[in-house]
Amino acid sequence: MKIIRTVAGLEAYRRVRSAVAGLDIGLVMTMGALHAGHRSLIARARRENAALVVSIFVNPRQFGPNEDLARYPRPIDSDLALCRDEGVDVVFVPEAQELYPPGFGTQVLPDPALTSTLCGLSRPGHFQGVATVVAKVINIVQPARTYFGQKDAQQVAVIRSVCRDLNLSSRIVACPIVRDSDGLALSSRNIYLSPAERTTALALPAALHRSLALWSTGERQATVLEAAVRERLASEANLSVEYVAIVDPDGLYPLEQVQGRALVAAAVRVGTTRLIDNVLLGQS
Ligand code: PAJ
Repeated sequence: MKIIRTVAGLEAYRRVRSAVAGLDIGLVMTMGALHAGHRSLIARARRENAALVVSIFVNPRQFGPNEDLARYPRPIDSDLALCRDEGVDVVFVPEAQELYPPGFGTQVLPDPALTSTLCGLSRPGHFQGVATVVAKVINIVQPARTYFGQKDAQQVAVIRSVCRDLNLSSRIVACPIVRDSDGLALSSRNIYLSPAERTTALALPAALHRSLALWSTGERQATVLEAAVRERLASEANLSVEYVAIVDPDGLYPLEQVQGRALVAAAVRVGTTRLIDNVLLGQS
């Protein structure tokens, strides 16, 4: 496994693998602190591509001023071990100045229709930071396929739209949410939760599951489905709700009736930790 720290090094690798050898490259972008959720993306990308690049970069441009950039976990040794274990060919671990050198001034501004809702409301500029780094790394690697987790459903919708609008030719592959045995979606931020907070946090997947159960019995009215989620969340004293929404999975606009597919998404705070989760209704 190669560890590459520079853009020039990564470009050189891509030229040899794709132009010379004609091989498909798969890309998985991460901020490290890798867990089984990341591992599922990496394993799928490994199966589907001749060459596999994983990036580990805590992207400062997607963190707000009051967010957890400084304390975000950075266990690089165990991350590299996981990548080695999964047969990754290249791990790209740039320093911030490598991707944002002096004079860097361009930003990718995603469609406001997709960012002025859900997480975008409490995280201004977040998706601009995500879109900018994703566009940069896709341009450098030129992967046939890039893999993202459905855990961050809005991120998937934004990136699909950015790639379409900017003619980035990589296919965007969305992978299912990986959960712990107790139902909590895996997240690098779960380590911030105390044992008591973790128990409280289980209300989030439980609440979302209620909408799925109701939908399975034939309920199609979004207000009813949403109320069931909110009611379960409201029963937890130490949890505050940031949003619960039932939206179109691609356009992220609110739905009144669930006819085809729908995304039920929620964000909550437990203590100082912000958690997001979602379920898809009508998924074949
Ligand atoms: P990060 O939070 O490290 O997540 C990297 C990828 O892993 C994302 O596509 C995310 O959706 C996916 N992922 C995280 N937890 C998951 C879970 N429980 N199940 C399935 N997939 C999961 O998302 C980012 O980093 C950044 O915004 C990034 C795209 C790397 C840009 O900086």
